[in-house]
Amino acid sequence: MDHTEPAGAGDTLQDFGPVPAGWVWGTATAAHQIEGGNVGNDWWDWEHTPGSGTRESSGDACDSWHRWFEDLELVKAIGLDAYRFSLEWSRIEPAEGEFSIAALEHYRAILLAAHELGLRASVTLHHFTTPRWMAAQGGWSNPLVVERFQRFADIAAQHLGDQIDMAATLNEPNVVAHAGYIGGQFPPGRPHDWEGFRQASRHLLLGHLAAREALRAGPGDFPVGLTLALPDTVLHADGDLTSPGERVTDLRPDGPRGELGWLTAGQYLDAARDDDYIGVQTYFTEHVGPDGAELPLPSGERVTQMGWPFTPEALGASVRVAAEVARVPVIVTENGVAAAEDAERIEYYSRSLRSLRAAMDDGVDVRGFFAWSLLDNFEWALGFEPTFGLVEVDPVSFARSSKPSAAWLGGLARASRGAHV
Ligand code: BGC
Repeated sequence: MDHTEPAGAGDTLQDFGPVPAGWVWGTATAAHQIEGGNVGNDWWDWEHTPGSGTRESSGDACDSWHRWFEDLELVKAIGLDAYRFSLEWSRIEPAEGEFSIAALEHYRAILLAAHELGLRASVTLHHFTTPRWMAAQGGWSNPLVVERFQRFADIAAQHLGDQIDMAATLNEPNVVAHAGYIGGQFPPGRPHDWEGFRQASRHLLLGHLAAREALRAGPGDFPVGLTLALPDTVLHADGDLTSPGERVTDLRPDGPRGELGWLTAGQYLDAARDDDYIGVQTYFTEHVGPDGAELPLPSGERVTQMGWPFTPEALGASVRVAAEVARVPVIVTENGVAAAEDAERIEYYSRSLRSLRAAMDDGVDVRGFFAWSLLDNFEWALGFEPTFGLVEVDPVSFARSSKPSAAWLGGLARASRGAHV
């Protein structure tokens, strides 16, 4: 089965067509990538660990800790209707059991201002960073993390819940576990530690369930889910990239991707059946051989600044898989491209959104789309080099300037408004 849309390169999407009532057009960020000065978490330590492979320090990032209002105004000016951002756990709980009312009030101010501007606010509780005190106890590999995370979720819900419009417990728990314990590019940087990977994957899943309960029990009534990194995966059983291959849709432990497929995708999609939505974050199509390892790209293949294949149609394919397995509404909580040339971003979104439209036309229940990212920001191990933003940020003055892709996406959003299915 091949759901991939024809390329349509070069031809810019002008009309997304009618969207269902309640649809959101938004853009996303994450605390550590934009706030700056997040010195209390595991990433800050990792950035300053010689040999970690991280290019540079997040430093002041985009100084959004101070410039958050300007960021909200940008979202509004672009013409989008929602802003996804994350809470920095280490600011809210800088020491174990010690909570900062001032940090909670900071995030509350963002929520209130978003509403004053007429924006909907989507809050992520954990976007890759874990407080240093928790990391020192083993982070996500320690079972204690589950109740620590639940307590944090509970405090966040009590203080902020009445202003939240949509929440994700964890951003890409599959990346946290895989990059931390298999790839080793993320803290704690333990490549090939399968036992650590299994433990972290288990505690991330339990952490999601515990935090979901805390969010649902608190004030406010909003959809709760998690977001997953969900590449479109094509398996070539013969190990030959040029063979047609088969899209992987069975993510059970006995499926073609085995334990890895289950722990990095299947277990979360299964749990999402009791969530209110599944957040899909797709950037590319990957091709894997019979052993599950990624097949090298042919030389000359078009790639993004991340070195990922330029394959925007991956989005339509993976929302179909997510919806089929999780059986709950899909929200595209991230999609975008790291590109130096902004025209490439418009091409990427034109094609990814066309593939999304095709999935929706085939009956997939999609409720919204968040572009990654509002700002050019700190791209984890790769530092500030890859630029995903709709808005450029001057590294010295922090001045923001919207790119043409921002105006284009805003135009698309405006055109689709009022044209409900
Ligand atoms: C993450 C973002 C990241 C983006 C591009 C996602 O994995 O949620 O934090 O910047 O992809 O790598």
